[in-house]
Amino acid sequence: MKEILPGVFYCGLHDKDRKVFDQLVPLPQGTTYNSYMVRGSQKCALIDTMYVKFRSEYLDMISSTGIAPDYIISNHAEPDHTGVIPALLKQYPKTLVYCSAKCAENLKNMLHVPADRLKIVSDGEELDLGGRTLRFISAPWVHWPDTMFTHLVEDNLLFTCDYFGAHYTHAAVMADYTPELAEAAKRYYAEIMMPFRSFCAKYLEKVRALNPKMILPSHGPVYDKPEFIMNLYADWTSTEVARKVIIAYVSMYDNSKIMAEYLQNALSARGMEVVCADIMTLDEGEMAMELIDAAGLVFGTSMVLTGPHPKSVYLAYLINLLRPKLKFYSVIGSFGWGGNLTAPIDAMFSTLKLKKFEPVIAKGKPLPADFAKLDALAEAISATA
Ligand code: FEO
Repeated sequence: MKEILPGVFYCGLHDKDRKVFDQLVPLPQGTTYNSYMVRGSQKCALIDTMYVKFRSEYLDMISSTGIAPDYIISNHAEPDHTGVIPALLKQYPKTLVYCSAKCAENLKNMLHVPADRLKIVSDGEELDLGGRTLRFISAPWVHWPDTMFTHLVEDNLLFTCDYFGAHYTHAAVMADYTPELAEAAKRYYAEIMMPFRSFCAKYLEKVRALNPKMILPSHGPVYDKPEFIMNLYADWTSTEVARKVIIAYVSMYDNSKIMAEYLQNALSARGMEVVCADIMTLDEGEMAMELIDAAGLVFGTSMVLTGPHPKSVYLAYLINLLRPKLKFYSVIGSFGWGGNLTAPIDAMFSTLKLKKFEPVIAKGKPLPADFAKLDALAEAISATA
């Protein structure tokens, strides 16, 4: 446990060995689960708690203070921040959990927290710890409907749970403001927050208005220079896109790869930034980061039986969930004897409403006529982007 300010303690733990989050998000350096203890003259509160993997370490850390927490503030119910709540409530029979109505519902369903241990709070409600006030700020959809922020009013500290988080374990507690931290925060935004970009932008303005002295998320470091992370979010959540196209291809016998690389060169020759990635070796976090400001996406895919390679359909499905700012897409690729290379990918983009450029599909090894179509596709993209 580390004292951040008098009476405000960091009681998080680092999980450097964790390789993947939610069975989906790669973690190049693991993550941290941050929890904070705030003591007033009368009462003590924990703000967010701990993943159940570290139950005994966390309970030992809290009990070593000799102070029973009166309150647990649960900004969000996902179990990486709440998994130890049942154990805490057992150890401290008078402790109550303060949270939003939706969070209370989630805690009942996911952790079987008894209703009589839950206190639902609304936007602007305050909790007096004795000379220290916690004010709850409703902030749904960053990234669940249950989320809220907690403002420690007198010290002007803002606890934002996942919002402004980073899967970053190189800093002990306070941010080191390195390019590596910016990269980790970007990866986190792309994977977790990008689907909720408009909410992120809205809350950014709200946070700026508070002008907090520190931002204390529940993953990654504490920002004692909050403008660092706020400026990054301003950039990522803007409505602007770059003249940038991502080509993601999967190729069984190199024909689709040849087409992808030809299109890459044709777009580059027209002054566009192009990221060309083999889906088979793709890091999905890297792809998500590239999608933050990409204008367009081109799938390159071989035919498998009667449709596109399943790896390309999966990626299209994932990108549709991430809801990047993309404006357009297309499909290129090669087939042997038949099938429909585009319809299953089109179906994945049902919610993104993208402009679709005419696909370029070659039968077997691409011919000069196919390359001419790729040139035309590059010209059309360049004229739009
Ligand atoms: Fe870090 Fe949505 O939990």
